[in-house]
Amino acid sequence: MSIRPSIVKQLGRRASLVPAAVAVALVLASCGGSSVSGGGDDDGGGGDEGAALDPVKIGLLVPLSGVYAALGEDMQQGFQLYLDENDGKLGGAEVEVVEADEGESPGTGVPAATRLVTQDQVDAVAGIVSSAVALGVKDLFVESKVPLVVANAGANDVTAGGSPYIWRSSFTNGGVAAALGAYVAEQVGDGSVYLISADYAAGAESTGGFKETFEAAGGTIAGEAFTPFGTTTDWQPYLQGIRASGASAVYTFYAGAEAVGFTTQYNQFGLKGEIPLYAAGFLTEGGVLEASGEAAVGIQNSLHYSDQIDSERNNAFVEAYVAAYDEVPTTYAVQAYDAAAALGLAIEAAGATDSESIAQGLSEVGEIDSPRGTFSFDENHDPVQPYYLREVQEVDGVLANVVLQELEQ
Ligand code: PHB
Repeated sequence: MSIRPSIVKQLGRRASLVPAAVAVALVLASCGGSSVSGGGDDDGGGGDEGAALDPVKIGLLVPLSGVYAALGEDMQQGFQLYLDENDGKLGGAEVEVVEADEGESPGTGVPAATRLVTQDQVDAVAGIVSSAVALGVKDLFVESKVPLVVANAGANDVTAGGSPYIWRSSFTNGGVAAALGAYVAEQVGDGSVYLISADYAAGAESTGGFKETFEAAGGTIAGEAFTPFGTTTDWQPYLQGIRASGASAVYTFYAGAEAVGFTTQYNQFGLKGEIPLYAAGFLTEGGVLEASGEAAVGIQNSLHYSDQIDSERNNAFVEAYVAAYDEVPTTYAVQAYDAAAALGLAIEAAGATDSESIAQGLSEVGEIDSPRGTFSFDENHDPVQPYYLREVQEVDGVLANVVLQELEQ
């Protein structure tokens, strides 16, 4: 894997976090009953050659407000790019996208999901950034038999048991973290690692996943802290605790606005040059990286995607994404793009667009040709995929997550 500076260089810095709001266009079926013939684009026609496909109604449930709002925008863009590349269709079916705001907690996410299912009567839903929200809506989807493709939230229990209605195009929080454990154990040798993360499902599972493989590789834990999610703005007391612990490295899970706060204060407090920081890659992803700036340089982290992956598939994807949005794609964008791909392949396999057929089709998609590399779904319906060791470096004046190696799992 090598650095792929060319497109990033042309682009310059990522456009602002509030780019010309690229609303997900509603690609409406022209009118009721205007079924289209399967066939056409890259992902081909319906399973039943020549059969008419009814339009499909997809709920896109992403945060449009709260600490994860910027991630939601990336996901809108990724989902829309897949539609644009496929003539506005999924598996040959015309698509209507109904957007809903997940917010940042189950208090907002659960009612939004419920409205999509009961009021809008969507055929399937894609999205969900927060593990807390995903855990809160899982039963709704299982019981209403409406397929959900989780395009971010990584809580293990979301997919545990492999319900035919729950799929995930992203990762598990434990998986991202576990991929880094043995590597960090090797780096710190006889030293110890302090763990600090956001206090909710994702932070807990990330910490747990890291601890498991780190300790299995002989690593020692110096201390552990969980910070109140969504309300912590001053990390100083925690940073003092890290310094006092005598740790030789830190592992962390933060994302969105909290990632910027933590990374910036870690630097301001003087820990950056003192104690190496390792992280689940969300800490340095997308708009967060630009906002953290210099404070993020040198952070090594794990994730299943980087816009720096030098493959034909990814280069083409990055180019198309930059052309559409004037910024490089993030992991969140790719996960939503791949959720659309999974739904498209499912509809194609099933040759129909109702919820039950889409759920059945999802079990038949096989491999997905993703910008991250090809992946398939395991028995829980989580992606089987590579994880990469990334390091924040300046590449031609732009901060990027350069891929150092694939991590052993
Ligand atoms: C999660 O809640 O699972 C989550 C949220 C944001 C991320 C990653 C994971 O960037």
